[in-house]
Amino acid sequence: MSAPPPMSLLAELTHRCPLSCPYCSNPVEMERRQAELDTAGWLRVLDEAAELGVLQAHFSGGEPMARSDLVELVQHASRRNLYTNLITSGILLTEDKLRALSDAGLDHIQLSFQDVDPAGAERIGGLRGAQEKKLAAARMIKAEGMPLTLNFVVHRENVARVPEMIELAYEIGAGRVEIAHTQYYGWGLLNRDLLMPSQEQLEASTQAVVKAKARFGNALAIDYVTPDYHADQPKPCMGGWGQRFLNVSPSGRVLPCHAAETIPNVHFPTVTKQSLAEIWNDSELFNLFRGTEWMPEPCRSCALKEVDWGGCRCQALALTGDAANTDPVCARSPQHSIVTEAANTARMGELIYRRFSTI
Ligand code: FES
Repeated sequence: MSAPPPMSLLAELTHRCPLSCPYCSNPVEMERRQAELDTAGWLRVLDEAAELGVLQAHFSGGEPMARSDLVELVQHASRRNLYTNLITSGILLTEDKLRALSDAGLDHIQLSFQDVDPAGAERIGGLRGAQEKKLAAARMIKAEGMPLTLNFVVHRENVARVPEMIELAYEIGAGRVEIAHTQYYGWGLLNRDLLMPSQEQLEASTQAVVKAKARFGNALAIDYVTPDYHADQPKPCMGGWGQRFLNVSPSGRVLPCHAAETIPNVHFPTVTKQSLAEIWNDSELFNLFRGTEWMPEPCRSCALKEVDWGGCRCQALALTGDAANTDPVCARSPQHSIVTEAANTARMGELIYRRFSTI
């Protein structure tokens, strides 16, 4: 079977990272350095992605700058006419490295911040001095003339500072800022009750974004991602399972989303054994929830089934125990109360930090 080609490849080059954010999108069981694909393996992935029709290569991690072959990989992707984006904490960025990436054809950098308040940022990231390094990285990127997006993940502890986050992005001269409420998978799910904002906090942050959009207009693009626990309608996770996106893990596993490895009783394909095209078109994993045939009621007869594509399979699994169930975010799900209760459960306690750091 041949599916329309994916738009984006997320190349998770490594799970190594100097930070230990307790909402990291990496799986709780991370892959070690010894298991990572070598340079030749990644070059082949990029070739196969270009041949499959992928348009964008997002280099991510962990911290992708922990890989010494990053410049070579970016250059290769660029030569294959892929739009290249580096998703980085900025901690390991130097002027020389930035110049080399720019010369290699890098199109864009997305730089993550944990907060505008240094103490808050360093408490979440778990690294002293990180904020200063990130600010220096942002200035360097601007000086190089590289298109820059700042990304802030927000949660109960920092959500009140959304106006200052947007202000910082404007002052630095970023073209875009992403204010993304924490998504509750993997590490985020482990810490959910400590990070979940209240309904009032969510509304205040939404208002802050509306106000900032009116104030900055075209001078700064502002993207806003809400936590779907406070919603009644599910999000079209990844733009639909197996429709627009593929994720290659550090060891070469090919997944439809960050959290797919939690799905039980399914074979996880790898680029070491099959081509990306075979995996995308024919693998059991990518066809499991593709389209609408797999849907149960009430999704199957829902007018929005080709808008939200059934929401998020990994969330359905994590919260209801079955990935084929209706996403409980949907108000029509018989299990919607799981989400509304969790959205209103606040707990104090110690955050569980992402570990390991081997850099
Ligand atoms: Fe896997 Fe949403 S994270 S489908």
